[in-house]
Amino acid sequence: MTEHQAKETHLHPDAVPLVDWATANKNVYKHMEWRTAYNSAAYLVPVIESMKKTNPAITILDVGAGSGSISATFAQIIGTKGHVTALDLNPATIPRCKAVAEEMGVIEMMSFQQGEVHKLPYEDNTFDIVHCHQLLTHVNAPWDALREMLRMTKPGGVVAAREGDWETEVRWPQLPGLVKFHGFAGSMLVGHGGTKSAGRQLVSWALRAGAKRSQITPSYGTWSYTDPELKKIYAQGIIRDALHGPVRQAGLKSGLTEDDFDEMEKDFEAWIGMEDGVLAMMHGEIMIKK
Ligand SMILES: C[S@@+](CC[C@H](N)C(=O)[O-])C[C@H]1O[C@@H](n2cnc3c(N)ncnc32)[C@H](O)[C@@H]1O
Repeated sequence: MTEHQAKETHLHPDAVPLVDWATANKNVYKHMEWRTAYNSAAYLVPVIESMKKTNPAITILDVGAGSGSISATFAQIIGTKGHVTALDLNPATIPRCKAVAEEMGVIEMMSFQQGEVHKLPYEDNTFDIVHCHQLLTHVNAPWDALREMLRMTKPGGVVAAREGDWETEVRWPQLPGLVKFHGFAGSMLVGHGGTKSAGRQLVSWALRAGAKRSQITPSYGTWSYTDPELKKIYAQGIIRDALHGPVRQAGLKSGLTEDDFDEMEKDFEAWIGMEDGVLAMMHGEIMIKK
């Protein structure tokens, strides 16, 4: 690994995953269900639309699909001749993914699979598109994950990834509890073997996975919480999943105090009601043409 491909590997001795994805309760995924292909994979939508013109039986694998709301919109876009497979490490996601697909009217065009991104249970050259959203930031060898995604993509197909860049997360107002949460969540992410600057490293990881620079199309997008209802869903998700239960216990072990957690909760509650309260983060996006 060169200095430029550096990954943050300084683990805090007491750090645990912010979310243990292998065993997370299905409720953890609820605040992600507003995500669609249009708001979370907009860079890929025109490529799907154009591919569909010559190949209506398009196949997409969504890796780390969570509740599958992005996967289900892919199914809506490709139409009834195509097929989307939603895969996730956590078996708790599968019933929720099925319910989302049912609600969105695409259950017939989808299948669901438990699996791990570094060892995907498919033959080489199986899918037209292999996609992930906010997955590589959580895994400890993201270049190997991309290599595996490339392996299963058909020649002429595309690997697409969009990842947040936690270091670029900004918020207003700068409430102390929100600032504290930013530091805490970042150290938990790194403690888990993840990366706080994933968005900016995607091109580097794709090169390390064996792609040539000419195959890679990078772009950048933002993710933001400005809408009052979405702010509430996001902040209540943080309070429920990150400021209570095992994550709070881990934070207490790593040096935070009960007062710190109370301050974070109080400030997230206050931020929900603030008219000028906003949060945003840059995301990196790449498409790798095989
Ligand atoms: C932040 S969520 C994103 C979910 C979905 N892509 C979205 O954006 O709504 C990350 C997802 O990746 C899954 N995941 C984490 N590590 C994984 C791995 N090694 N292999 C497959 N899935 C994994 C988690 O269970 C979780 O559902």
